[in-house]
This record gives sequence, C-alpha cells and structure tokens, in this order.
Amino acid sequence: MKKQVLIALAAVFAVLASLAFVQAQASSDAADDTDPSPVQVPEREQPFDFPHEPHVAVNQIDCQYCHFSVERSRSAGVPPLATCMGCHAYVDGEAQAGDIATLRQFWEDREAIPWSRVYKVADHVYFPHMRHIAGGVECADCHGQVGEEINVIQRVEQPLTMGWCLNCHLEMDASRDCTVCHY
Ligand code: HEC
Ligand code: HEC
Ligand code: HEC
Ligand code: HEC
Ligand code: HEC
Repeated sequence: MKKQVLIALAAVFAVLASLAFVQAQASSDAADDTDPSPVQVPEREQPFDFPHEPHVAVNQIDCQYCHFSVERSRSAGVPPLATCMGCHAYVDGEAQAGDIATLRQFWEDREAIPWSRVYKVADHVYFPHMRHIAGGVECADCHGQVGEEINVIQRVEQPLTMGWCLNCHLEMDASRDCTVCHY
C-alpha cells in the first residue's frame, strides 16, 4: 500500500520535473529575446479593430457592461451586436467612421461580428472568471490596463502558463490542487 503511494508520488514528481524543465527552457529561450513579455500571438484576422480606449477611458463604460458574464460564469463573454447598436444606431465615428458603417451592415444583415479570440488556455485547463472576480483579482492583473494603455487588444499580456497561475495562487493563498485546474 505504502509502496503504491510512493510510486504515485514519484509519477507526479516526474511530471512536475519535466514541466519545470519545459518552463526553464521556455524562459531561457525568452531570455534571448529582447522583449520576452508580453507574449506575441499570431496575427489575428479581425473584421475591424475594436478600440477599447474611447469606450473605457473616454466614455467610462464599465467592462461588465460588455463582458456581461464575467461575474457569474467561467467565460467573460463578448458583447452581442445589440449592445453596440444601443449606442451606434446614433453614435457615428470620426477616425474609424468606416468601421461604424461596417458595424451597422452586420446589424442589417443580422450577422454576429466574427471576433477572433486572443486569450485562450489549453483545452485540459479549467479557468473560471467568476472565482477570480469574487476573489478580488482585477482584470488588469491578467489583461493589463485595457482602455488606458491598451486600446486594441493584439496580444496576450501574460504567458498563461501553469507557472503563472501557480505563482499567483501561492501569493494569494488560493488552491494549488491539481484537480481544481485540470479535468
Ligand atoms: C463597449 C464594449 C466593451 C467594453 C466597455 C469593454 N470591452 Fe473588452 N472587448 C469588447 C469587444 C467587442 C471585444 C472583441 C474584440 C477584440 O478582441 O478586440 C473585446 C475584447 C476584450 C478582450 C480580449 C478577448 C479575447 O479575444 O481573448 C479582453 C481581455 C477585454 N476585452 C477586456 C476588457 C476589459 C478589462 C474592459 C474594461 C477595462 C473591457 N474589455 C471593456 C468590448 C468591450
Ligand atoms: C454606451 C455607448 C457605446 C456602446 C455600447 C458601444 N460604443 Fe462604440 N463608441 C461609443 C462612443 C461614444 C465612441 C466615440 C465616438 C467618437 O469619438 O466619435 C465610440 C467609438 C467606437 C469606434 C471608433 C469610431 C471612430 O470613428 O473613432 C468603434 C469602431 C466602435 N465604437 C465600435 C463599437 C462596437 C463594436 C461596440 C459593441 C461591441 C460598441 N462600439 C459599443 C459608444 C459606444
Ligand atoms: C486571474 C486572471 C484573469 C482575470 C482577473 C480576468 N481574466 Fe479574462 N481571461 C483570463 C484567461 C486565462 C482567459 C482565457 C480563458 C479561457 O481560455 O477559458 C481570459 C479570457 C477573457 C476574455 C475572452 C472571452 C471570454 O469569454 O472569456 C475576455 C473578454 C476577458 N477575459 C475579459 C476579462 C474582464 C473584463 C475581466 C475583469 C472583469 C477579466 N477578464 C479578468 C484571465 C483573467
Ligand atoms: C493574479 C492572481 C491569479 C492568477 C494569475 C490566477 N489565479 Fe486562479 N485564483 C486566484 C485567486 C485569488 C483565487 C481564489 C478565489 C477565492 O477562493 O475566492 C483563484 C481561484 C481559482 C480557481 C478556483 C479554485 C477553487 O478552490 O475551486 C481555479 C480553478 C483557478 N483559480 C484557476 C486558475 C488558472 C487555470 C489560472 C491560470 C490560467 C489562474 N487561476 C490564474 C488568483 C489567480
Ligand atoms: C492554478 C491552476 C493549475 C494547477 C493548480 C495545476 N495546473 Fe497543470 N497546468 C495549468 C495550465 C494553465 C497549464 C497549461 C500550460 C500551457 O499551456 O502552457 C497546465 C499544464 C499542465 C500539464 C501539461 C503540460 C503541457 O506541456 O501542457 C500537466 C502534465 C500538468 N499541468 C500537471 C499538473 C499537476 C500534476 C498538477 C498538480 C501538482 C497541476 N498541473 C496543477 C494550470 C494548473
């Protein structure tokens, strides 16, 4: 019995050791880079650039007005077109006026805007937004100063690795049990 437990533990340590190795390699690769973080994601195809700055910093719209499910669900949610039209049926654009025309065309065609995703964890990882919001973690801790410093979201501000998750869980005394993050 005791021996089996030891074997199981050894297996877990082997996995952890290989992970530590992979991460050490990743960080030494990154060290060669002049700008190791934030992490560059492959170029995304967006129908048009969504500027956070005029909404968040200028017009003081709350993140949750658009990312409506962040407090109660695993995913933050991306706003439906109806949310945009609440304003852009009347609010025209200046610098990106053509994009407002595109937006209205999607609405007329009754098509959702096909935004492509930037932040995404591996499929075997469970990331619940609501637990983090309830635990007092700020959007900016993970996504940077969206609206102030970041206008159009082009890249991932944090590495989204297991080490990144665990460091903060250690600091904030949150669970480090394998099964809370892995199915
Ligand atoms: C007026 C609506 C609106 C507001 C307010 C808003 N967002 Fe967004 N946000 C969007 C839309 C639309 C997208 C999808 C387009 C994109 O990814 O660039 C998006 C994308 C994002 C993404 C990237 C999602 C992905 O693809 O991984 C993050 C992170 C984000 N917003 C965070 C925030 C934060 C933090 C705030 C508040 C400081 C905020 N947003 C306020 C509409 C909004
Ligand atoms: C609460 C009102 C409100 C909502 C909701 C809203 N916007 Fe805006 N949006 C504005 C205002 C105000 C501006 C600034 C307009 C200006 O500077 O002329 C703006 C600017 C923009 C611009 C830049 C226009 C330009 O020419 O500079 C785009 C693109 C845009 N919004 C897209 C969207 C999308 C997509 C959504 C839905 C996800 C959305 N907006 C939701 C109020 C809103
Ligand atoms: C503890 C870190 C953390 C915090 C805090 C956080 N996010 Fe996220 N966010 C992530 C990660 C990780 C993903 C990718 C999740 C996935 O793939 O399931 C993500 C994905 C997103 C997305 C992509 C679309 C979706 O439906 O999930 C949006 C939008 C977003 N976050 C907005 C926000 C907003 C707004 C806040 C604050 C109210 C916030 N996030 C707080 C880490 C965080
Ligand atoms: C900036 C800090 C921070 C980061 C980064 C972070 N978390 Fe968390 N996480 C927390 C805190 C704090 C809690 C505890 C919230 C509570 O218990 O009220 C938590 C709770 C959780 C829970 C629920 C735990 C339980 O006891 O049921 C899961 C699952 C989780 N995080 C997954 C992740 C994953 C996956 C990542 C990386 C992709 C991540 N977290 C990154 C701070 C963070
Ligand atoms: C706080 C959340 C969290 C906890 C707790 C956690 N993991 Fe992970 N784990 C992750 C994330 C996020 C990734 C994905 C990393 C990536 O894609 O780079 C991951 C990836 C992995 C992988 C795959 C490695 C790879 O190359 O993708 C293994 C194996 C793993 N974890 C094992 C464990 C074990 C064993 C434990 C318990 C000792 C554990 N994890 C605890 C978040 C967590």
